[in-house]
Amino acid sequence: MSSTIYELPELKDASDSNIATAFDALLHAFSIEVEGLESLEAIERFRIRWFGDKAGLVNRGASGFIRYAQNKQLAGASFKRLKEDTEQLFAERSDIVHRILKVESVVNASFAADRAQKNFLDLTLPGTRRSIGVEHPLTRTMREMTAVFAALGYSVGVGPEVETDFYNFEALNFPPNHPARDTQDTLVVAGQEDKPLRERLLMRTHTSPVQIRTMVANAPPLRIVIPGKVHRNDESDATHSPIFHQVEGLCVDTDITFSDLKGTLDHAMKALFGSSVRTRFFPSYFPFTEPSADVQISCPFCGGKGCRKCKHSGWIELLGCGLVDPAVFAALGGPRMANGLKPAYDTKKISGFAFGMGVERIAMMKYGVGDIGQFYSGDLRFLSQFM
Ligand code: DAH
Repeated sequence: MSSTIYELPELKDASDSNIATAFDALLHAFSIEVEGLESLEAIERFRIRWFGDKAGLVNRGASGFIRYAQNKQLAGASFKRLKEDTEQLFAERSDIVHRILKVESVVNASFAADRAQKNFLDLTLPGTRRSIGVEHPLTRTMREMTAVFAALGYSVGVGPEVETDFYNFEALNFPPNHPARDTQDTLVVAGQEDKPLRERLLMRTHTSPVQIRTMVANAPPLRIVIPGKVHRNDESDATHSPIFHQVEGLCVDTDITFSDLKGTLDHAMKALFGSSVRTRFFPSYFPFTEPSADVQISCPFCGGKGCRKCKHSGWIELLGCGLVDPAVFAALGGPRMANGLKPAYDTKKISGFAFGMGVERIAMMKYGVGDIGQFYSGDLRFLSQFM
């Protein structure tokens, strides 16, 4: 809109050209003002100001010009054209303003509807459910296994996954180059050829080194259960993984016998698989136990009658165990305890038993998992079954 508001001129010269200029100036002012119209109110004010019957600028101006003009006919024709032009400009602008307002109202209505919907609180709708994580089946199994022994008064211990050759092998009576080392294909930390063998680092192949760490730091009697991760240079298949978990146990006291071992493990298997499960012990070999045994449980799937799961034998082999080899106690004479004293593992007075079992194998049995890889897949379709 022009900033100066149009006023009718005072005519001093009634010549044709001066009258024509007056008509042009009026139309010019009108056309600028009409372009600035944006609302219905403004349109109405404008209509009264320009088209009002008596006071409207178009009629008032034109009749003044005509009255003043020498050439009335020419001025009359100019008035006719002015009326047509101004009415057309006004109609066009009004039309545009109406259209703009209509579009705006549609847009605003949809925004308002949107806002109304967002702010609308329907207390009858169900809440937003957030899925709550659960313990991984391996963690759960490991915790359950550990809890069985904790309930018998065992303390719970852990040890490092990167271990020295001494704790993983030598102290457990696997001497250097002994063929028993071949039963645990090992991943070693590279570039340690300068060190003596017993100080070289490797990924522990079992949780048994924590037996040694425990006895080095604590005098007997002791009972400890050790859950943890172990590593072997093994190919993956449906039942093997190069990284897996074990739960280890150690009990050392005076007068510990093989019966104590049998009673403890029989109880543990019943606690884990149900009270109808039976156990049996077969001679086996581990360098750090003497005698050593493999433990079988009656097949919890068929109750011992024979099925596909137990390869129709009625029994499933589950863990290794034995009485602590006196050579292991003797090897403790080397390192000192944390308090600087040598631990009192006098093989004439004390004895002990130990056991170790695979967590994956037990979890696969408990939950009917056919492929060990499922535990490590991170696949929610698998994991959500343990909710
Ligand atoms: N450490 C053995 C392994 O990984 C398992 C084992 C056997 C642990 C007998 C023991 C034991 O404590 O007494 O194969």
